[in-house]
Amino acid sequence: MCGIVAYTGSKDSAPILVEGLRRLEYRGYDSAGLAVQTPKGVEIRRAVGKLANLDAALRSTPLTGTTGVGHTRWATHGRPNEANAHPHVSGKVAVVHNGIIENHVELRRELEGRGVRFASDTDTEIVAHLVSEARAAGAESLTAAVRSALKRVRGAYAIAVVAGDCPGEIVVAKQDSPLVLGIGQEENFAASDIPALLAYTRDVILLDDGEMARLTSGGIEITVITDGAPVTRESKRIDWSPTQAEKGGYKHFMLKEIHEQPRAIEDTLRGRIDLQAADVIAAEIGVTEEHAKKIGRVYFVACGTSAHAAMAGRYWIEQLARVPATVEIGSEVRSGEPAFLPPDFVVAVSQSGETLDTMAAVKAAKAQGAHVLAVANVVDSAIPRASDGSLYTHAGPEIGVASTKCFTTQLAALLMLAVYLGRRRGTLPEGEARRVLNALWHVPAQMREALTEAEHIKAIAKHHLRARDMLFLGRGTGFPMALEGALKLKEISYIHAEGYAAGEMKHGPIALIDEEMPVVVVCPRDVHYEKTISNLQEVRAREGQVIAICTKGDTDVAKLCLDGAP
Ligand code: M6R
Repeated sequence: MCGIVAYTGSKDSAPILVEGLRRLEYRGYDSAGLAVQTPKGVEIRRAVGKLANLDAALRSTPLTGTTGVGHTRWATHGRPNEANAHPHVSGKVAVVHNGIIENHVELRRELEGRGVRFASDTDTEIVAHLVSEARAAGAESLTAAVRSALKRVRGAYAIAVVAGDCPGEIVVAKQDSPLVLGIGQEENFAASDIPALLAYTRDVILLDDGEMARLTSGGIEITVITDGAPVTRESKRIDWSPTQAEKGGYKHFMLKEIHEQPRAIEDTLRGRIDLQAADVIAAEIGVTEEHAKKIGRVYFVACGTSAHAAMAGRYWIEQLARVPATVEIGSEVRSGEPAFLPPDFVVAVSQSGETLDTMAAVKAAKAQGAHVLAVANVVDSAIPRASDGSLYTHAGPEIGVASTKCFTTQLAALLMLAVYLGRRRGTLPEGEARRVLNALWHVPAQMREALTEAEHIKAIAKHHLRARDMLFLGRGTGFPMALEGALKLKEISYIHAEGYAAGEMKHGPIALIDEEMPVVVVCPRDVHYEKTISNLQEVRAREGQVIAICTKGDTDVAKLCLDGAP
């Protein structure tokens, strides 16, 4: 995820901003930049790659001024290059932004229609132009101009704005993206995350969604974005260590990323689901209706967790787009001599977009004339660059090595792909598409609810601390979930685990089940429910210890489980 730092006071701002950005480096980024109010107006410096490159740019042409904003960018719209790095400027206004502007396509078209020239491919630049236009139209203050711009914008944002003719003033705003204000002595700060501030202050104010603030060295004025109503908010004292702060108070990055899943899925769905039209808006897939109808086979290539997401994608493509689909793990494509036939639609799934085996499969597919779509998390990485289209998951950087939020955002992207193809192939009726998309839209809220079970889940895990082997079972899309569960357990707990299609249990693995063996059964109330319950009963008959992942309130399943809480 991107990082924001803003400072206004009496000290030279550039070193403070760069140091603040350095404290956010753990979040990952691909470019960085600053805007500082200097005697010449707002000046910017930007650089691709590490902060050392921005440092070098500042050494060769320094920026001196006591008010400024800084940003580290993780690309979501547009390649990671200098033109797309923040801040973005329009007239005297400079803006840094985290998040995604949902209606960026229509706003950009509208602004271009009024003769506005864009210097980047980002959604952020729209905000800079809207603020600038509002000022030109007579907004009485920078705050008023930002408020008027934000009324046009839909989506998630944390922004910080400076203007060359508003010395010593920063305006920030927040909607669905974190933003915290730091209170100093005759100086004030804003940042997207607390670690950026801890070297300067431990007194912070957390902005709520729908709020904005005007920062000067003398104070902070918080108001509601929509109507300008003043907000009074007490500050908090933060006593976290810098390392604790980086992990957002969680014990480790993986746990933090597990809890980030609802937000990551919301960002992946944002602007792409049109419930009214019962369709997915994703021109970046690069497939017309005519092309979709000609697809003869969908051929997924991926490794590890991404291959498990692809397996779920395979089920959805077959169900909703009625086209045969297969999943091949990248290394096996490399080891064999796969025949990709030109009507094939190859979907390469990769979080990093750089996995060599998946990349080799993409090259083989391209060489044989297949159309390749990348489903990736890292914008402009090797696999999307080598593909004909890309559907990005917007999970943000995954710092924990074990994939968590990237897996679930891949699932969201692949379900959208299946709907997209189904609608264009004419195999998915409007009502059914709307039902699927509506269900997908509610996933983040359901995830938030599931995450409140963390303590209960911890207690179950504790009970199985000494297990040496574990079995994971599921049917349909529950099968790849079982494979992924087993992979996670091996990778994180070093406990041997196997994932099986539940229907395969009787063909061998049943011999392993005894009272020592915990068996995780994925058994939501779907079309496979009854059959999976029979498998679960077979496990119980052999005294295996069942841990069921089931639908909330399913007391029938709960009775067959260890602690009986559904
Ligand atoms: O970046 P990719 O998705 O292409 O990586 C593929 C696998 O290495 C990866 O999914 C791996 O299995 C997970 N990080 C395991 O948690």
